[in-house]
Amino acid sequence: MSTPGPDPSDLDRVAAAALARVESGMLLGLGTGRASEAFIRRLGEQVRRGLQIQGIATSERSEALARRENIPLVSFEQIERLDLAVDGADEVTPDLGLTKGLGGALLRERVVAYEAERFIILVTPEKLVEKLGSRAPIPIEVVPFAVPTVTRHLAALGGKPTVRKNADGFPFQTDNHNWILHTVFGPIDAPAALDADIRKIPGVVDNGLFLGMASAVLVGEPGGVRELTRRR
Ligand code: A5P
Repeated sequence: MSTPGPDPSDLDRVAAAALARVESGMLLGLGTGRASEAFIRRLGEQVRRGLQIQGIATSERSEALARRENIPLVSFEQIERLDLAVDGADEVTPDLGLTKGLGGALLRERVVAYEAERFIILVTPEKLVEKLGSRAPIPIEVVPFAVPTVTRHLAALGGKPTVRKNADGFPFQTDNHNWILHTVFGPIDAPAALDADIRKIPGVVDNGLFLGMASAVLVGEPGGVRELTRRR
């Protein structure tokens, strides 16, 4: 599931702006979703023209795309730190808080972002919000055994969780063989406190609140690309 509606040319514009920050020799984290796929395609073009980079993908889907684009891939057994991770987001606040994971890849996205010196987010303007939770549910990755108990605890926190399903009606399974509870909280006043409360629930593997992680957010819009930095 992805939120509807970004203009493909805005995605391409923002992907090109991210590519301008890539230098030869870099180790890159490759995100998941439409904006990330636009970036991976642009990166592939440059690799075929001789750009020397290596990447780690945040999902099996992005890994498959990177392989089709002939982008050299490595694992965390082979390298320690990434220079730059580039990924999309479902919501962005003025202090660069993010909701991520409507593409189902939040856990690997966080692992990759955490290992990167810089974490650049690519979005289109409809993703900009004042408060997280305003336009997207918070995806929460859960061990399947604990789905009933986590569901009850999330409801006690004021959320409305539903199991993410595939088109065939069966639960969506992440690349890590977990399930996702899409949990509607509405606009969240205190995201750090909610994040901490969610993390305390046994069986929760990760959640889509990415706070204090983004280095920069690039917004692709018809007039060009705007860079957001943190509001102090
Ligand atoms: C993937 O799990 C997500 O975190 C994506 O990065 C996010 O959903 C944005 O995706 P789009 O670029 O497709 O909107």
